[in-house]
Amino acid sequence: MAKAADKTWKAILLAGGSGSRLYPLTLGLNKHLLPVYDKPMIYYSLSTLMLGGLRDIIIMSGKDAIPQFQRLLGDGSQWGLQLSYMEQAAPNGIAECFRIAQDEIRGHNVALMLGDNIFYSDKLGEKISAAMAENAGATIFACEVANPSEFGVVELDDQGRPISLEEKPKQPRTNLAVPGFYCYDERVVDMAWKLKPGPRGELEITDINRAYLQMGELNVKRFGRGIAWLDGGTHAALYDAGQFIKVVEERTGLKIACPEEIAFRQGYITAEDVMRLAGASKTPYADYLRALVHAPSSET
Ligand code: TTP
Repeated sequence: MAKAADKTWKAILLAGGSGSRLYPLTLGLNKHLLPVYDKPMIYYSLSTLMLGGLRDIIIMSGKDAIPQFQRLLGDGSQWGLQLSYMEQAAPNGIAECFRIAQDEIRGHNVALMLGDNIFYSDKLGEKISAAMAENAGATIFACEVANPSEFGVVELDDQGRPISLEEKPKQPRTNLAVPGFYCYDERVVDMAWKLKPGPRGELEITDINRAYLQMGELNVKRFGRGIAWLDGGTHAALYDAGQFIKVVEERTGLKIACPEEIAFRQGYITAEDVMRLAGASKTPYADYLRALVHAPSSET
């Protein structure tokens, strides 16, 4: 079979859901607009896609939140991106996104990123783009966690090949959780239409992954100890993520998930563009943008 790398990639950044674990924070505001220290949560997931070289991105969320995302992110051209917006009418499950976006993604490979996931790692972009380049079928990642029951959990054989996948198992077989970045070939749309809602009443992404597993076309890449994988799904997790970003940013003097910086370092925008985006603003964020144009190149 031809490697999926022959086709172009589109990305879906999923930013809907009900955010019920964060009530009452999410009564008035979509979860992905909440602050993670110094930036809106969605900056982190968007930055991960940008580092992976994904520039054509569908942002999917509920009807009320879409105008707010549009105000925050626009059409993405300021950062050298093509952002479009699609509505998920109700939180019917992560895998519903492929049905909703079918006309846009058919014939392409698709990267899916959950908007509340945060990755921090050296060479993150290289890890992601390597997974995309090698993908033939589906590629997911696996990270060790202390609380696997709260995630999709994967079991691997001694060659690192997947044996089983379970969604939020009460008695997990391993401590390997599947984080919210996934790569699929174009068949994912047809698979999404074949899915039935799981016990939670949602179209489960784990069922898509299991379908690829059953075809022998699911590849799992381990993220080792060098990666921090966080999410902002609960009050404690949101607080911890903010703390983590604060500590690392203060120590290094570098921002995590600054889209202007990533766009500049990836060559999507020029130094003049960065200066224009900073404008005459006196904020520390604008100061950071002005300084990075003159700073020696640093890994993003
Ligand atoms: P979850 O954290 O599983 O769900 P949630 O965001 O609705 O929160 P809660 O469990 O507290 O009610 O969602 C993971 C990510 O996927 C998150 O970024 C939201 C997104 N999502 C959607 O966009 N649509 C959906 O239908 C679901 C279930 C999740």
